[in-house]
Amino acid sequence: MADVIQMNYMLIPVIYRFGINLGFGDKTVKEICDETEVDLNFFLQLVNTYHDKDYFPKEELQTIPSKNIVAYLKMTHSSYLNEKLSEIEGLIEALQHAEAEDEKYILLIRNFFEGYKNELTEHIMHEEELVFPYVLAVEEICKTGMVSARNRQLYESFSIVEYQDGHDDVEEKLMDLKTIMIKYLTPPSNTNLYHKIIQLLFMLEQDLNYHSRIEDKVLIPKMILMEKTVAELI
Ligand SMILES: [Fe+2]
Ligand SMILES: [Fe+2]
Repeated sequence: MADVIQMNYMLIPVIYRFGINLGFGDKTVKEICDETEVDLNFFLQLVNTYHDKDYFPKEELQTIPSKNIVAYLKMTHSSYLNEKLSEIEGLIEALQHAEAEDEKYILLIRNFFEGYKNELTEHIMHEEELVFPYVLAVEEICKTGMVSARNRQLYESFSIVEYQDGHDDVEEKLMDLKTIMIKYLTPPSNTNLYHKIIQLLFMLEQDLNYHSRIEDKVLIPKMILMEKTVAELI
């Protein structure tokens, strides 16, 4: 496991979302996955997709139980909401305190980022409150062949096509903010902090890309197939 991190330190937050923390000594990936009850196949597929952007074994990933995929997506959501967004927000605030002269530019960045944060939070809440419970209900119906009253209600209240159609691009607005900062604003004198913010925005954007790819290319097609099975059962 240590070799995985030595090879690509960007994987530290990714493995952490599986509940795997640093300090694993010489233990192998399999040993750690067994200990933490992580699906080894899912772990390997996912780590490889983060390591190599051209590697995306859609079919293989679609064989992973939705329960595991949803658990991973939820951990990623929580890292956005509780860590990444607040980290960037804190740095923008620090920039605002440090600079009196460039106040209007910094305020513009701050307002833009606030708007983005609200948009992403709303997107995540929709998935957590409506989409994921639906996905889990559909999977349970398929697995057990039984339809409880609650699962029937969830199944009838939503459809994955609805999710697919409304699944907007959460990276777009982030790209706009980066463009404004890179192309149009005069950098404040605290360039170190300013560059750090831009780097974090790039990292967040990349992470969101990988996240949305799992929702669009794994979860949605998997659900389309499962919905067909449920339709036959009901
Ligand atoms: Fe998501
Ligand atoms: Fe999403």
